[in-house]
Order: sequence, then C-alpha cells, then structure tokens
Amino acid sequence: MPAATARILVTGADGQLGRSLQALAAHKPGSAVYDFVTRAQLDITDGSAIDRWLDAHPADYVINAAAYTAVDRAATDMDAALAVNAHAPGLLARGCAARGMHLLHVSTDYVFDGALDRAYRDTDAPCPLNAYGRSKLLGEQAVQDAAPDAIIVRTSWVFSAWGGNFVRTMLRLGAQHDRLRVIDDQIGGPTWAGHLAEALHRLALHAHGAVATASPSSAPGGVYHFAGSPWVSWHGFAQEIFAQALRLGLIPRLPAVEAIPSSDWPAPEPRPANSRLDCSRLEALLGPLERDWRTGLDEVLRAISRYNGALSI
Ligand SMILES: NC(=O)c1ccc[n+]([C@@H]2O[C@H](COP(=O)([O-])OP(=O)(O)OC[C@H]3O[C@@H](n4cnc5c(N)ncnc54)[C@H](OP(=O)(O)O)[C@@H]3O)[C@@H](O)[C@H]2O)c1
Repeated sequence: MPAATARILVTGADGQLGRSLQALAAHKPGSAVYDFVTRAQLDITDGSAIDRWLDAHPADYVINAAAYTAVDRAATDMDAALAVNAHAPGLLARGCAARGMHLLHVSTDYVFDGALDRAYRDTDAPCPLNAYGRSKLLGEQAVQDAAPDAIIVRTSWVFSAWGGNFVRTMLRLGAQHDRLRVIDDQIGGPTWAGHLAEALHRLALHAHGAVATASPSSAPGGVYHFAGSPWVSWHGFAQEIFAQALRLGLIPRLPAVEAIPSSDWPAPEPRPANSRLDCSRLEALLGPLERDWRTGLDEVLRAISRYNGALSI
C-alpha cells in the first residue's frame, strides 16, 4: 500500500532555506503537504509555543530551517546563538518525539575544524573552531539526545536570491569597486538553497515511505552531508559569480578579483580551511542529487535580474 501524502512543517520560513522550500512546495503541489511558519509566527526558543504549534498542526516531518546564522556576531551574542542553535533544536526534537513526528534538522560544515586533507564524512569527529560552530554542534547533540531517530543534514556555504549571502555580497561590492580581494585558502562546496531544499524534500519523502510502509527499520536517521559541487575557494566562487553576472548583463564589467590568504583578511571568528563535506551517504540513500552550484548560481542570478531589474542588491 503506498504511503499517504507526507505532511511537512517548516520553521524559519523566511530564511534562505525556508523560502526555497516554499518555492519547491509551490512548484510540486501534491508531492507533500507543507505548512510554513516564520519567526514572527513561531519563536523556536519558546518551548510552550512549539508544543501549541505541533498540537495544532499534526505532521509527519518537521524541517528545522530556523537558525542563528551570523557567524561573527555569534561570538559576542552567544546567549542568543545558543538559544536558537543549541537549545531550540532540542525543544523541537522533544516535541516531535512526544507526538510521533520526525525531525529533520539542518546543521553546518563549521562543526569541523577543517584540518583534514579530505572531504569530511558524517562519521568524522566534529571539532568547531568558532562560537557559531559550537552552538550548532550543541544543537546536533540536543537533537540526538531527545530523538535518536532524528535526521541531521549538515550543509555549507548556502546561497540564494534572498537574504545575506556571498553571492549578493559579491554583486554589491563588485558594483562599488573595480578591485576586490577574496580569500583563496578556504575550500568548500557552495550550496544553492534550492538544491538543499530538493534534497531535504526527497529525504523526507524517502523516510516517510520507509516509516509508513513495510520497513520502518530502514528509515534513515542520523547525520548526512549535503553540499554543492565542485569544490572551490571563495576566490574561485567570486570569479564564477562575476563571469556569470557579466554574461547575463547584471554587471557592466568584470572587477579584478585578487586571491589573498585568510591571514590578510582577519575575521573576528576563524573559519575552517577545509569545508568540504562528503555527500556519499546521502547519495547512496537517495541516488544522485543535483548539486552543481554553478547551475544554482545561474538560477539565482536570473532571479535577481528578474526581481531587481537593475542591480539593487
Ligand atoms: N547560510 C549558510 O551559509 C549556512 C552554511 C551552513 C549551514 N547553514 C545552516 O542551514 C540552515 C538554513 O540556513 P539559512 O541560510 O537558510 O539561514 P537564514 O537565511 O539565516 O534563515 C534562518 C531563519 O531562521 C530565523 N530565526 C532566527 N531565530 C529564530 C527563532 N528564534 N525562531 C524562529 N526562527 C528564527 C531567521 O529569522 P530572522 O531573519 O528574523 O532572524 C531566518 O528567517 C541553518 O541551520 C544554518 O545553520 C547555513
């Protein structure tokens, strides 16, 4: 007997991932029934509000797309970062477990210190370098303590047409300056939020099918990695952003982009040199996933050009 349509709740609906899941839900009506809440509708640090919301919206899956994502600010605003990234995921996991719902929580490459010379597997030991990474690791642990069958998906370098991200920052800076200096010794996988949304959607449907049909024991649980491909440095990413933006007529000329080491761009908080996430566990489960960030970048730049007309990033 086929599984009933999956009901999926999404927190943090106004963020990059939340908006991308909304776009996906609009384009795939019928594949799942989605319900979205923004921060204004549900503050995930409020346990009673979570309980009321879950009681009012029976569902199969909750995707937690809410997070405190300001990496540098997290160090000086640690209480707020911990409340959202460490404490709240545990509240969501407990609320889900008490109601037979399943949590799909999103985490980060910044749980790793970047010292390995290969891509990080889900089995590698985390060791965050910065306060944001520590808060997210505590969140993973809170989820696993409260709901051992929960799914955690770590991702990296998320970008979209909305919000604060590297693509929009580069376009803004490129419009203001002829020359830019961009770090070349941090390597990772830029992840289009649309690809991430699709991967989470497929993962939730896969898990729902396993739970609802013959083999609940084959339901995926634990940690998975999902990131864009191919690996690139921030500098290489910036070059591709400007090359595509020029081709689309979003910018009149290519700015000069100088490659610099991280030591020449001291950020308040350290970042891992190696942010590469090995995604093979997720692809073994779901089959090949669309992960090429260059196609995601094309989508984002076309959306920016459609919605903004001119460049007002
Ligand atoms: N962005 C990246 O580069 C990146 C990299 C690796 C992993 N991740 C992870 O990927 C996930 C999605 O990230 P994203 O880029 O979509 O983040 P985002 O754009 O910053 O969105 C996060 C959303 O969460 C909301 N939020 C913050 N505090 C909340 C609270 N107390 N209650 C309810 N909602 C709250 C934010 O609202 P406000 O805007 O009003 O604060 C925002 O709408 C997160 O788990 C993040 O840690 C992101």
